[in-house]
This record gives sequence, C-alpha cells and structure tokens, in this order.
Amino acid sequence: MIGALRSSMGVIGVGAAVPERVMTNAEIAARIDTSDAWIRERTGIGERRIVAEDEFCSDLALAAAERALERSGIAPAEIDLVLVATCTPDAYFPSVAALVADRLGAHAAAANDLSAACTGFVYGMASAVTHVQSGMAENVLVIGAETMSRILDWDDRGTCILFGDGAGACVVSANAQSERVVALELGSDGSRADDLVVRALRANPNVIEMNGREVFKFATRVMVDSVTRVLDVAGATIDDVDWLVPHQANIRIIDHATKKLGIDPSKVLSNLDRYGNTSSASIPLCLDEAWADGRLQKGDRVLMVGFGGGLTWGSCLMDWAAEPAGKVQ
Ligand code: UT7
Repeated sequence: MIGALRSSMGVIGVGAAVPERVMTNAEIAARIDTSDAWIRERTGIGERRIVAEDEFCSDLALAAAERALERSGIAPAEIDLVLVATCTPDAYFPSVAALVADRLGAHAAAANDLSAACTGFVYGMASAVTHVQSGMAENVLVIGAETMSRILDWDDRGTCILFGDGAGACVVSANAQSERVVALELGSDGSRADDLVVRALRANPNVIEMNGREVFKFATRVMVDSVTRVLDVAGATIDDVDWLVPHQANIRIIDHATKKLGIDPSKVLSNLDRYGNTSSASIPLCLDEAWADGRLQKGDRVLMVGFGGGLTWGSCLMDWAAEPAGKVQ
C-alpha cells in the first residue's frame, strides 16, 4: 500500500516509559557463551531494560500514553481512538488498548491492538493517519509497547542479546496547522513468516525463533527501498527529511541504510546502545528522546521506517507539530 495526502495533521505530543531494571551485556555474558565486545560490535547494543515480574505491557503503555497526552495539551476525553502496536500483550484479549483507554479515562475512544511485530508502530501511525483523514477521528493515540523479555529463549544467544522492554506513544491530531504532505508505504510478505516467528498456540514455550542472517539481509534491502518509495510518492527527496527514525534492530542495518540513502548521519536517530531492540516501541522511544533533548523541533519533517515479523515493513513521512519540551513541562 502506498499513498500521499495533503493534510493539516501532525504529531502534537510524545511520551515514553521504560522499566527501571537495566540488564547489561556483561550480565548476559556471565550466563551464556557471548561477550560484551561481540554484542557491541555486531549489534551496537550495550544494555537493555527488563520488566519486573509484576509489570506488564499495559503498565508501560499507560505510562507512555499519560506523558504523551500531558504534553499534547489535550484531555483523555478528546481522544477518539487508542491503538496499541504490540506483540507481547498482557492477554490475548482484552486488548492492551482497551485497558489503557480505561485507565486513562479516554471513555469516548475506540480501542484496539495491532499486530505487525516490529513494524507495528508505523502500521499504527498509518491507521491513525487514515482515521484522521477520513474525518472519523480528530485525535488518535498511537502506542508501541513491548515486554520482549517474556518471549525470549534466554539460552539462545542469537536472539536473547537483542531485545528489550519499553513503550512509546504519539498523539496524532487533525489540527496540527501544517499543510504539507503526509506519505505512507506499507508492505508484507507472509511467505517469509518462518524467518521471524513466535509460534504461540502452535508451540510451547512461546519464544522468538529467528533466522538472523536472512532477516538482516531483508532489513538492509527493505529499509532503503521503503524510504525511497515513500519519498517518491511524497514528491520529496532525502534532503527534505529532518529526521530519519529507523526501527532499532542492529546498528549495522541503520548504518547501511544511512549510507545508501545519502543522509547525514547526524539526522538519523538511534538509542540502540541503551535499549536494544524494543520492537514496536523503538521508534517512539527515539522520538521521545530527541524531543526531550531539544533536537526534534516543531515543523520538522520526520520519516519513520520499520521492518520485522510477518515479514512486514513500512514508512511514514509526517510533520512534527509538538511544542518544545520547555514550553509544555
Ligand atoms: O526487529 C527484528 C528484526 N531482527 C533483526 O533485524 C535481526 C537481524 N539480524 C541480526 O541483527 C544479526 O544477524 C545478528 C545480530 C542476529 C547476528 O549477527 P551476524 O553478524 O549475522 O552473526 P551470524 O549469525 O552470521 O554469526 C556469526 C558468528 C557465528 O559463529 P561461527 O559460525 O562464525 O563460528 C555465530 O555462532 O557469530 C556467532 N554468534 C555469536 N557469538 C557471540 C552468534 N551470536 C553470537 C553471540 N555472541 N551473541
């Protein structure tokens, strides 16, 4: 699916939340056959956050959502739709979104979860854009929230070193006072389902199985292709992009895309070193950080690009319309 539209919508608020517990590479290396040096060199990851036993996806999602709402200056009652992208929900049902909407007091909102693995946040943004554009919604809360530590085989060094827990949220509003193009490109290839899978009802225990090399090759190709296509449909070039926000899976994948696309590395957001791969939370975690430290400014053009299980991929080009951190806190 690909398309572009002219609209006054944009992101008016962002928030994030991570568990307190930090797990370093050294801690993993004390248990299995790996090392801090290998993990840093091959992935760019230094540490990740891990939820407590009594902490669930909805807890992280709620905390991120509360911050995003506060900063957007709109009340919970003004939210029309809550979307939670997650592959690690508290339960099969009810959705995390329904729990979060209730705990926020967003009683007028529709709420549902969305399954697109690590591409989930970009799929969520696309859904928000189309709901806003159709007039069905004015304000949509899009959350990416994960407790990846619960679906890891902690003896599998090919996967357990990569993932971490966290959540991030954005408020997409119809009234962002921008008149620029919003563009989307989304895709999936279910023929490659087994390259990255948690078999759930088909297996026990439920853990991530990944063909790392194949996913690596897929990711390097699809990130560049998807960004190129979304820029084309928007009538833009890479020079029009203020911030490229890639899914945080491996620093080598990000570096490859940065070079191939010819974008200044200082415009590419990354926080892999501190959080690892938080799946659908990785993009909004980066956005929250860049907004909080003042890099991401109102009026900037943000290009998010994700890839992951499905296999799926997606890009979303949109305006950043959130007030600066100092002004709203
Ligand atoms: O968001 C979800 C999407 N997921 C991804 O994007 C992941 C994509 N894949 C990757 O990031 C990389 O493929 C990995 C980080 C998973 C693996 O890195 P790699 O450079 O592709 O390693 P490899 O699988 O080709 O393995 C190279 C060597 C092997 O040893 P031999 O056969 O050369 O002796 C592995 O057994 O590295 C070994 N190895 C490790 N060594 C130390 C694999 N994992 C580890 C480890 N520590 N954790």
